[in-house]
Amino acid sequence: MELTTRLVVLASGTGTNLQAIIDACSTGRLDARVVHVITNRRGVRAADRAELAGVSHQCLLLDEFRQQVETPAEARRSYDVALAAAVASHRPDLVILAGWMHLLSPVFLDVFPGRVVNLHPALPGTYPGAHAIDDAWADHLRQGLDHTGVMVHLVPDEGVDNGPVVLSERVDILDTDTRESLEQRIHEVEHRIFVDAIDQLIRNRE
Ligand code: GAR
Repeated sequence: MELTTRLVVLASGTGTNLQAIIDACSTGRLDARVVHVITNRRGVRAADRAELAGVSHQCLLLDEFRQQVETPAEARRSYDVALAAAVASHRPDLVILAGWMHLLSPVFLDVFPGRVVNLHPALPGTYPGAHAIDDAWADHLRQGLDHTGVMVHLVPDEGVDNGPVVLSERVDILDTDTRESLEQRIHEVEHRIFVDAIDQLIRNRE
């Protein structure tokens, strides 16, 4: 039996969190291995990072499924069935959503109960969706919001950026911050607590 935890990572963008996980695996900080990466956009940096690290990767495009079926709902369903099959073929212990911008449906989630982990750049219950940092920054400018945060949570269902929290951490918004400096500090916290949360989940499995 393989003892090292097998991670399949889904990523849509720059992949700095994927990189933090790959690095943590290679230094031994995580007793885990990234066995496969799936992206859902062409030419993203996350795919380059997987390639550089010698991790197998593929791109699965929702658009290709839209062309094969009648309705958007059917396309999402057949996409999630294909995605689940692609992920399952790599026998993951954990499925890691590292900046994955596609809402997963139960046809996917039910294949990996309790094993899908998401990172979100906001505190639990705040700013769900793809623009959490922009939304918090807008509230800072409008009403003086003085903090936001980062969370890592399990994904039990279709709720957006919602589910049992593994770890979360507050990030202060400083008077000296710009939108960019806030994002940079949020990413620094993400890279640390995402690895810590995955480590915690791995130890809970043991
Ligand atoms: C991260 O900030 C992550 O929290 C966010 O996407 C970014 C990906 O960065 N995820 C969400 O907003 C999920 N709703 P990365 O590609 O550099 O890892």
